[in-house]
Amino acid sequence: MRLDPEPLPRRDWLGLASLWSAASALAFGFIGAMRLPKAAVVAAPSKALKLTLPESLPAGEAFVPPGRAMAVFRDGEGVYAISTICTHLGCVVKPNAEGFECPCHGSRFDHAGGVVKGPAPRALPWLQVRLANGEVHIDEGKTVPSGTKAKQA
Ligand code: FES
Repeated sequence: MRLDPEPLPRRDWLGLASLWSAASALAFGFIGAMRLPKAAVVAAPSKALKLTLPESLPAGEAFVPPGRAMAVFRDGEGVYAISTICTHLGCVVKPNAEGFECPCHGSRFDHAGGVVKGPAPRALPWLQVRLANGEVHIDEGKTVPSGTKAKQA
């Protein structure tokens, strides 16, 4: 009489080993997939802006909404907005008495955003402005031809 357990046949042992290998590969793969970094997609801020210009804003003087790369102006012909993103490499230009000046490489623009001194290759774009209920609606994503001013209806 034999008391030892019957040895596992070699073919069965290999079959079990391959099943365990496959199962552990799937388990580790699943754990690894769960640990992958999550996509860090942040919603882009809206390109539309609604504001009220200060009553005391002198004609032709720039009003820069906080956190926005634009300058808004009011004069006798209407309201208009000019992007303050330099057309050279994208620095934010600063309005000044002569127009705009880029702090990065010294480009200068006139009051209408036209290039006075390079290296900026193009004029600053004008942004779409609409007036409604005493508020100024500006869409940073839409440009209009230079000189387009919104008039109160
Ligand atoms: S980014 Fe404005 S001049 Fe270069």
